[in-house]
Amino acid sequence: MSTGSLRLAILISGRGSNMLAIARACAAGTIAARVVVVISDRGDAAGLTHARELGLETAIIAAAPRDPTTLERPLTGLIEDHGADALALAGFMRILPAPFVERHLGRMLNIHPSLLPAYRGLNTHRRVLEAHEAEHGASVHFVTPELDAGPIVLQSRVAVLAGDSEATLSARVQATEHIIYPRVLAWLAAGRLAWRDGSAWFDGRRLERPMVEDFRAARA
Ligand code: GRF
Repeated sequence: MSTGSLRLAILISGRGSNMLAIARACAAGTIAARVVVVISDRGDAAGLTHARELGLETAIIAAAPRDPTTLERPLTGLIEDHGADALALAGFMRILPAPFVERHLGRMLNIHPSLLPAYRGLNTHRRVLEAHEAEHGASVHFVTPELDAGPIVLQSRVAVLAGDSEATLSARVQATEHIIYPRVLAWLAAGRLAWRDGSAWFDGRRLERPMVEDFRAARA
């Protein structure tokens, strides 16, 4: 894989399509980073197989359901063993212990399938359809102890189309996730994106509001 200087750990729980997009961007040199480990809390995550196929190192962490504190020790051990200096949550379905999050402030990003602060939490596509929203999207944000509430860096905006199902809408949003997440990580690796005083900074300026990439014209 790529030999970029940032050492990136990616955390997954499932399919791992964002992990793949990030790993490929690292391999292509688009992100000046190296994926040092892909960590899953589930041994049956399909993303683990994809990661191994790419030649990436993988690890499975065992933690008790609904008890974030049990993640602290195994996760910290893996991060230290692999010398990871940044973390990308990519469909990682566990709540992280607050002390772990505090220690990694500014070095941990997440992608959430909604236009945050709207639709935090689960089942975002279904809730957006039920609310008859005209727009939806995804948000890449720094991770802070409050769930889905850290400073947002970049959002993708997509149209909700007449006749959309949860499947068609989530596919449209996911296609944009694979563009915006690697882009934000490339900025982090290049030093263009930084964390200071509890805010996201881009090119030396505090981000007063998220950057937005508009995909509404792309009707796929
Ligand atoms: C993505 O939709 C992401 O927004 C959310 O979880 C999903 C993960 O998908 N956090 P994948 O495992 O990357 O395919």
